[in-house]
Amino acid sequence: MITDSEFIRGLPKAELHLHIEGSLEPEQMFEFARRNRVSLPFRTVEEVRAAYAFSNLQDFLDIYYQGAAVLQTEQDFHDLAMAYFRRVAADGCRHVELFFDPQTHTDRGLPFSVAVEGLLSGMAEAKASLGITSKLILCFLRHLDEDAAFATLKAAEPWLSRIVGVGLDSSELGHPPSKFAKVYREARARGLNLVAHAGEEGPPEYVWEALDVLGVDRIDHGNRSLEDAGLVERLAKSGMTLTVCPLSNLRLCVVDDLKVHPLKRMLGLGLKATVNSDDPAYFGGYLAENWIQTSAAVGLTRSELVTLAKNSFTGSFLTPAEVAPHLAAIDAFAKGAV
Ligand code: HPA
Ligand code: ZN
Repeated sequence: MITDSEFIRGLPKAELHLHIEGSLEPEQMFEFARRNRVSLPFRTVEEVRAAYAFSNLQDFLDIYYQGAAVLQTEQDFHDLAMAYFRRVAADGCRHVELFFDPQTHTDRGLPFSVAVEGLLSGMAEAKASLGITSKLILCFLRHLDEDAAFATLKAAEPWLSRIVGVGLDSSELGHPPSKFAKVYREARARGLNLVAHAGEEGPPEYVWEALDVLGVDRIDHGNRSLEDAGLVERLAKSGMTLTVCPLSNLRLCVVDDLKVHPLKRMLGLGLKATVNSDDPAYFGGYLAENWIQTSAAVGLTRSELVTLAKNSFTGSFLTPAEVAPHLAAIDAFAKGAV
């Protein structure tokens, strides 16, 4: 019988919650800083890693935005994306729907084209060289106002056919989804899919707003939904995908210990949960590591692992015809791996 870790690595999987700027490893941060002549407040990789001790989301965001300042050219974004794709190819990942934060880059003077063109070229190379498919999601920073989100959507216009949807990230508390009702309506009118971070630190009301005011297709995180039985019922009945990020939850103190992580409880309640890495360079693990550590901590069965793998594809923005071969590959793998 193969080990759980071998089973997890071998299962075909998709990643639906990944901030590409959060895959910036300290080594690469120094490399980009050197080639772009950007100064860093750290002298060594060890010093950077020592700074990754967070007690909440904002602690992390402060250092994450600082790190992103080393990204200056299309080549940087291309290299960042390819480094990520190489890592997850080794994890058995076949498809990724990645977030990027254009305002983090345009607000420090980069033209809108730099991040998006660099990422799209990295995504094309990942398809050609690794066979991994991917789609790009543009996130609005929720600590900024809705006018800034509208300006970002306008700046993205030339690329909208190559962007699959919009999302909402950054500081959740005090910035409810309803703050972005109009720009989400506009994004939907342009044919984009809609997702939003909700219920990571924010209350269940924010998840209700993401559903009822924004009309999202997926909820990113969603942990605090479990505090509201009516909301759990709504999410379960509608088959709403939750993109859960266990190691992120641990590092940002959303849970005290992986052993009490709600992933298994979510599955038991009939919620369509998926497992993702969020910001792997900052939270101590890429896709497979999230699966392996969480499975060991909460005791996932092989059948639950198969469900999670299937959820990652059926919860994606791939078409049913594109999803079908992945589901067949999961079944074939699970049948052969006893
Ligand atoms: N939550 C909110 N915003 C983010 C995150 C997150 O986990 N990662 C990057 N931006
Ligand atoms: Zn996130």
